[in-house]
Amino acid sequence: MNSEREFVSERDDQALKSCCANAYQSEWARLLLGDSFHPGGTALTQYLGAALHLGPDQRVLDVAAGQGTSAIHLAQRFGCTALGIEYSRVAVERATQAAQIAGVAHLVTFEQGDAEHLPVPTASFDVVVCECAFCTFPNKAMAASEFVRVLSPGGRVGLSDLTRKGAIPAELQGLLAWIACIADAQPLENYVRYLTDVGLTIQLIEEHDEALTDMLRDIQAKLLGTELLVELNKITLPGEIDLEQAKTMAKAAAAAIQSRQFGYAVVTATKS
Ligand SMILES: C[S@@+](CC[C@H](N)C(=O)[O-])C[C@H]1O[C@@H](n2cnc3c(N)ncnc32)[C@H](O)[C@@H]1O
Repeated sequence: MNSEREFVSERDDQALKSCCANAYQSEWARLLLGDSFHPGGTALTQYLGAALHLGPDQRVLDVAAGQGTSAIHLAQRFGCTALGIEYSRVAVERATQAAQIAGVAHLVTFEQGDAEHLPVPTASFDVVVCECAFCTFPNKAMAASEFVRVLSPGGRVGLSDLTRKGAIPAELQGLLAWIACIADAQPLENYVRYLTDVGLTIQLIEEHDEALTDMLRDIQAKLLGTELLVELNKITLPGEIDLEQAKTMAKAAAAAIQSRQFGYAVVTATKS
């Protein structure tokens, strides 16, 4: 599990997190992904919530909450309270506004913070959810130990993330691929090990590769639309995004997904 440290040693961890946050808070990300920034969308979030036995009295921490869609959806479906922690300040503002518009601001709040140093007290949550973001954390072991710290005894973790089998193809390495959750995607057994290494007991391991296939098909179609909007000067891409590179990467990712080199998985675990 050294690959991420080798990659990151060439870069500053903070710069990497900021690039990732900037890319996801951009107009570009919303155009390509909609509001829910993970394969399977809110349907898979709801599935995860049910697997975690969420209910009205539960306190949920959504780590790397993006635009808040998942935290809001969980509160609406299960009546739980939720705090979303997110690196991007802009995303926190948007998520807070979205909770107000959805009428769940009394249940759902958002704060800026880093998954590797969660700004919440020890043993203050029943459930930690982290969707399609764990793979982007430079220090995954640190994030996993934070999940355990903030959970009360008997608490649960629900992770959904991009998985890989074998080495990452050369064209799917680099900053853009890191942001897109590809460059440091882990084999499923590594995600499991990050959780068991911090003392969690695994409850569920499931592969949901079809969610990734559907999402990529959708992204490829939208990339063509984005190209048109850029040509018409209707949108500007963030500095770190090169549209040609994004199209080449999406094509390589589609081929890798088709040959089952990448997939998507859900893992849940409990703290004893
Ligand atoms: C692929 S998006 C997933 C967002 C959300 N979980 C969802 O499924 O809609 C990854 C998110 O992780 C956030 N992020 C990346 N590194 C982070 C960190 N170290 N701490 C908190 N958030 C982080 C990014 O800003 C981005 O919003």
